[in-house]
Amino acid sequence: MPTALRGATQPLGRAAGHAAPVRQILVINAKGGCGKTTIATNLASYYARQGRGTVLIDHDPQGSSMQWLSLRSKEAKPIHGVSAHRPVVSGVTRSFLLRIPDGAERVVLDAPAGVQGHQLIELMREIDAILIPVLPSPIDIHAASRFVQDLLLVAKVRARNIRVGVVANRVRENTKVYQSLEKFLNSLNIPFVARLRDTQNYVRAAETGVGVHDIKRSGAAQDQRQWEALIRWLEQG
Ligand SMILES: Nc1ncnc2c1ncn2[C@@H]1O[C@H](COP(=O)(O)OP(=O)(O)OP(=O)(O)O)[C@@H](O)[C@H]1O
Ligand SMILES: [Mg+2]
Repeated sequence: MPTALRGATQPLGRAAGHAAPVRQILVINAKGGCGKTTIATNLASYYARQGRGTVLIDHDPQGSSMQWLSLRSKEAKPIHGVSAHRPVVSGVTRSFLLRIPDGAERVVLDAPAGVQGHQLIELMREIDAILIPVLPSPIDIHAASRFVQDLLLVAKVRARNIRVGVVANRVRENTKVYQSLEKFLNSLNIPFVARLRDTQNYVRAAETGVGVHDIKRSGAAQDQRQWEALIRWLEQG
């Protein structure tokens, strides 16, 4: 483990009473800055809080998810971090670096922006569900439509039985901007699984390696509710 990550990875405890199969969730979009890391880290901290054996795999060379994990206190529920960009040291294979530890029930993968072609296909291995965060701007919505086409045509997610859901992120009151995307997704039978509002609660949570579910203040209750449909959709699969 590189020095920068020392202490970031906490061992998984025995998952209390759960015998659920491992489920792997990839958070991805070709577009940068749409909320991939925010959603991946919030999802990981949600599952950890539920007592699930949780693994967070950072596929982004920027290492934002692992940076978030390094801020997490020792008292918080453990999340096992895996940096997929660690240089492979001699005697250790890449598959050993990326192994899912015993006790894992939910694996959340944070993808970098701009993934395409072979790398996109590689990332699809073992994935059960994909979440695509989309910001409410025409440019982001156009990019998301193209990315969904890539998932269908290049990554062949349907043939692999991978479920795909879109998350409208940083939503303000006026959500009309999503109408064209919604129509396009409807025609492909791809759902909008959540709408997350634009709030400093995500920024504050990120500062201490937690998620909005860990925030006590009353303003966070609305954000916690917005995750319910997303979690239900993931757990249905
Ligand atoms: N719902 C939200 N409300 C407020 N701020 C948000 C929200 N979602 C994301 N942000 C902020 O937007 C910025 C970009 O988010 P994030 O890093 O999660 O995007 P990303 O898709 O992972 O970016 P990159 O492509 O660089 O990996 C961050 O500063 C984050 O705190
Ligand atoms: Mg990121």
